[in-house]
Formats: sequence, structure tokens, C-alpha cells
Amino acid sequence: MKMAAACCALRFQPRLGLSFLPALSLSNQISVCRLCLPQCSQKIHSPAATSQEKSSGRSGGLASPPTIDRQTAIDVNPPRGTRDFPPEDMRLRNWLFQNFREVSRLFAFEEVDFPILESEALYTRKAGEEITEQLYGFEDKGGRRVALRPELTPSLARLVIQKGQSLPHPIKWFAVGQCWRYERTTRGRRREHYQWNMDIIGVFDVTAEAELISSVVTLFKRLGLTESDVGFKVSSRKVLQAVLQRYSIPEELFGEVCVIIDKMEKIPMEEVEKKLVALGISVEAINGLLQVLALKSLPDLEEALGSAEDAVADLKQLFSLAEQYGYSQWIQFDASIVRGLSYYTGVVFEGFDREGKLRAICGGGRYDHLLSMFGGTDSPACGFGFGDAVIVELLKDKGLLPDLSPEVDDIVFPIDQQLQGSASMIASRLREKGRSVDLVLEQKRLKWIFKHAERIKASRLILVGEAEWQKGMVRVKNLSTREEQDVKVDELS
Ligand SMILES: *[C@@H]1O[C@H](CO)[C@@H](O)[C@H](O)[C@H]1NC(C)=O
Repeated sequence: MKMAAACCALRFQPRLGLSFLPALSLSNQISVCRLCLPQCSQKIHSPAATSQEKSSGRSGGLASPPTIDRQTAIDVNPPRGTRDFPPEDMRLRNWLFQNFREVSRLFAFEEVDFPILESEALYTRKAGEEITEQLYGFEDKGGRRVALRPELTPSLARLVIQKGQSLPHPIKWFAVGQCWRYERTTRGRRREHYQWNMDIIGVFDVTAEAELISSVVTLFKRLGLTESDVGFKVSSRKVLQAVLQRYSIPEELFGEVCVIIDKMEKIPMEEVEKKLVALGISVEAINGLLQVLALKSLPDLEEALGSAEDAVADLKQLFSLAEQYGYSQWIQFDASIVRGLSYYTGVVFEGFDREGKLRAICGGGRYDHLLSMFGGTDSPACGFGFGDAVIVELLKDKGLLPDLSPEVDDIVFPIDQQLQGSASMIASRLREKGRSVDLVLEQKRLKWIFKHAERIKASRLILVGEAEWQKGMVRVKNLSTREEQDVKVDELS
């Protein structure tokens, strides 16, 4: 106790140099109260513990050399709006991402990634999009404006421009990455999420969109969802473009008009109209727009715009492809879908839950001019983003979340402490064969071992005991059948 007090006292004596401390803690003679552990508990090692540690060759036990001044206690919660992923959450995330990656593989896309931190200029667009208004941007120590990426597509466009013509087209890339936003009004909404993106660069035809939607359908099916759980609303921004042309609305307003119209479901209609009027759109044009946006069937669209319109031709081709892919039951035309990103130019789509309880599950579309916005040469492009949050809510609602447990094949347990080395040898052998092995690292009771085995759903228990070991054997217990037998170490597999 005396030593502990002395040690803590030292740490709180600002005038005593820190150089005193390592000498104290490394000494076998003087027990440091455990690290002056966070709470500086007044516990010290008992003399017995100290001698045991000495005999096992450890000096100092848990006490590591103190290095820096004691800090004020930290907040153990992750920063506001962010998440930790303890094992059970990480298992779920990995499972979801494995599905993203597997579907991408089925469609022969290659994985890419980009820095989470990008130059802010990559996202400055004047369209009033939510995504850029909530940009998590700041100045770095070099005075550069940077931002945590709010989405992946601009980075992808940047990389495509950088690689230039050396890339064989079409480019089919996918990425799974964390995206950030900084909301001014935080109401329990998170500031980060992960997104799976698939993009095709270099294809003019809606065959590309059809392929992208097919990949999301494939994912949904893998996750156990059917067309009665989820669907896609599909439209084309060319529908809006046709209407705007009809009313001679300048093309440069197109992106902004789309972003305003996308807010129709979130803000009152008068607000939407006010914003459109502020852009200089006539009331007559607004009424024309609203009429077309209410359309829910392709024949009606064709009647409204005429069959010569690109929008009509694109959508008809897309729906006909969907039939041949076999997912026409999953998609429906809905002219009100425009999506909130200003850079979309053609077909847009969004995945939704049919009960209408959740936000969009995913969204995507064609963005043929994004590359030139960044000073590159235009290339036809389309892609989608699929977040990690809504899908998990949906799967939870539907009871479709898998029961994931740690994946351990074997537990290796030395019954006698002196067989620890032999147990590690057994563990190494099994690991070389590719088995996942949990080697028990300290003395435990068999009762604990069985409970532990159940918790981690191990399939075998390998007991290394003196009597068997003398005969070059170990006891192997099959944890599902409870059968056990002695197996020669050389025959263990
Ligand atoms: C346990 O026994 C069952 C039934 O014989 C067998 O199917 C299973 O593969 C065994 N498990 C291990 C890990 O050997």
C-alpha cells in the first residue's frame, strides 16, 4: 500500500520529472499500483503475485512504463454521429459486405477504393443538394480545404480522368466505403455510413442501367428479399428535360430544378413551387412539370411526351430488358423519381420497401457529364450507391438477419499447465491445415471451457492431457455429438 501511494503521489507531482517513473515501474522490487491504472486504484500486487510473476519470467506484471501525463478521463463513446463496431456488429457488417462483394464478382466488376479524405473542390456544386450542404469539410494544417467524402462517385470520376485512355473501356468498378456528412440539425441521425457502389463507364446504352439494376436484384435475392418486399422506381431525367425544353427553360438550370423536385416528398408543395419560381421558372411550366411528374405508367408518358422522345425510348428498352433478365416484377415506372444528385442526366432509379416504412434503400442513375464537370472528357457513365443502414433495418423488420456467431473450428485446451507448449504445437498444426483454432491461454476449469465452446460455437474440443500426451495422443471431442476419442497427434486433421 505504501508503494502504491508513493507511486501515485509521484505521478501527481508535476515537478518531479517523468524520468523517475519508468525506473520505478520496471523494478521488480517495487510494485506499481496497477498502472496507476485509469482510476489509480490503490491496489498493489500482492507479494505472492509478484513472486509468481518473477518465476514465470515476467517483470512488472500489468504495469507498463508510464509515458505521459495522466489525462483527464476520456469520453468512451465514439464521436457524435459515428459508430463503433463491436464483434457482433462487425460480423453483421462483414456479412453484408461479403454479399456486396460476391454480387459484384458475379457481375465481373473489379473493386477499387479511394481516400476517405478528398479535396473539397470535388464536391462544390451549386445545385443546393443535401449532400453538399452537409459536407464534412474543413481546413487541414496546410491550409487546404478538404472534406470527408460524402459519396464515392466523384472520387471514381477523378480516378477515371487520372487514368485516362489507358483504361480499357467499359470500366466496371465497384467500391465499398465509408461516407460522411455533417448535419447542422442532428436528431440522432448518423454522420457516417458505408456505401456499396457499382459503376459502369463507357456504355451509352441503357443496357448498363439494366445490368446495374439486375445486380441489386441479385443482392436482394441473396439476402432473402422478394419482389413483394422491395421494388425499384424507375424514371429518366430526360423526362424532365423534355418538359423544360418545351417551356424554353435554360439548360443550365436543369440540375437545380431536379434537386428541388427531388425534395417534393420532404417539403411542402408551396415551398417547392417557391423555389422553382425563385429560379425563374414560370407558373405555367411548373404546372406542366407537376403534371408529368404524376405519371405512373409508360403508356401515359408516351402519350404525354410522344414516342419520339429519348426518355420514352430509353425507358421502353429498359423495361423490355428487365423482362428478359427476369426482374420486371421488381420495377415500375414512376416519373416523380429524380434523385437528389445534380449530376444525373438520364435513367434514375431507387430501391424502396413496399411497405413504405423506410427511406430509399439504394439509388442510382446515369451521369454522362460528370467527367467534364471535373475537366475531363465526357464518357457515358452510370452507377448506384447502396447504403448499409436501411437494408439492415429492413432485414431486421423481415426477420431476415442471419444468426452470425464467431467462426471457430477447434478449441485446444491444455488440461495441465505444463502442457501449454504442447497445446500450442497442436494449435499450430491445425492452423496450418486451415482450421480456426482458439488456444486456451491460461488455466481454466473444464466447466468454463464447455461454456466458452458453446458461446463461440466451436465444433471440436481438443484436450491435451498428460496421460494421452505420453502416448502421443490427444482427446478429441465432437461438440455436436458429444462423442470423444483419442487421436494420434500425427493423424489429427
Ligand atoms: C461431429 O460428428 C458429426 C456426426 O458424425 C459429423 O457430421 C461432424 O462432422 C463432426 N464434427 C467434427 C468437427 O468432426
